Amino acid sequence: MKAMVYTNYGSPDVLQLKEVDKPVPKDNELLIKIKATGVNPADWHLLRGEPFLARLEAGLFKPKNAILGIDIAGQVEAVGKAVTGFQPGDEVFGDCGWGGGFAEYVCVTEKNVVPKPANISFEQAGAISVAAITALQGLRDKGQIQAGQKVLVNGASGGVGTFAVQLAKYFGGEVTCVCSTRNLEMVRSIGADHVIDYTREDFTQNGAQYDLLFDAVGNRSVSEYQRALSPRGICVVAGFTTLSRLFQLMLLGAWVSKTGSKQVGSMGTAQSNKQDLLFLKELLETGKVTPVIDRCYPLPEVPAAIRYLEAGHARGKVVITI
Ligand SMILES: NC(=O)c1ccc[n+]([C@@H]2O[C@H](COP(=O)([O-])OP(=O)(O)OC[C@H]3O[C@@H](n4cnc5c(N)ncnc54)[C@H](OP(=O)(O)O)[C@@H]3O)[C@@H](O)[C@H]2O)c1
Repeated sequence: MKAMVYTNYGSPDVLQLKEVDKPVPKDNELLIKIKATGVNPADWHLLRGEPFLARLEAGLFKPKNAILGIDIAGQVEAVGKAVTGFQPGDEVFGDCGWGGGFAEYVCVTEKNVVPKPANISFEQAGAISVAAITALQGLRDKGQIQAGQKVLVNGASGGVGTFAVQLAKYFGGEVTCVCSTRNLEMVRSIGADHVIDYTREDFTQNGAQYDLLFDAVGNRSVSEYQRALSPRGICVVAGFTTLSRLFQLMLLGAWVSKTGSKQVGSMGTAQSNKQDLLFLKELLETGKVTPVIDRCYPLPEVPAAIRYLEAGHARGKVVITI
């Protein structure tokens, strides 16, 4: 099968389209013929081995997994003999752990995937897992979102942000979206009640306060988050722009949360699980959540797709079609 392969950390130029062995499913695995796979910031962190901490998971000097790509959507081609919930021909979406998606086939276990809703395309289904689960776990589990709350989503126009806006609306929030001028209409179209153009206004300086602040950028200081929170507000940060921001968030955020009434912290790494994929599947089927796709690239253009995502201005999700 064809796959985009890398053997050394580096820029997107180190990725090569190669012929590799088609995987064979173990007894508890499904062989998926991949139709689409989303691109996530995790892919370029793992590609570059940056920040260095990422190498603790990915391999200290060389990447342990030669194939990147976490989100997948496709068709089951074969199943191992212990698999009970799927059969060849089923259309599924989900993830394949920390890599394997930038390829024609991948093996996963039953817990990694759920049936693909019939009303969405493979491109949309391939865009979901990491970004939507991050938004879901950030808002619901870490942010303890409640109906009627004032919710702010920073980075509302990106992969995680576009899911966060729709999920915050689903949970009954009054949602303010922060994005740049060119994305104001798009975030309104997916449910924003209010918009703030970050090129003209700073949401931490305008006096407004929110019960829940979900940050999919991670570019603000702990004191700025505190200022934008209501007295018992919670700030959940999904991303980070520099390591010093991340460490400040982990250390100062923990101290602030322990000593005051406001909670500020990094959400850590979202964990994909079948229950949350099934929860999302229902919202997709009922049209409460619809993936926003920015661009699709064919498999050989994974390097261009990663370069585009790395520039930091994707509008929704970037997807590889296979
Ligand atoms: N914790 C986890 O498990 C987890 C999982 C997934 C992702 N993440 C992290 O979450 C972050 C977002 O991921 P993503 O997939 O959404 O990335 P993404 O799609 O690349 O996000 C791009 C978006 O960020 C917006 N943006 C850039 N600068 C901004 C600013 N100063 N203020 C507001 N918005 C700004 C851009 O809007 P404009 O074009 O309008 O500037 C663009 O729409 C990343 O740091 C990623 O590593 C964490």
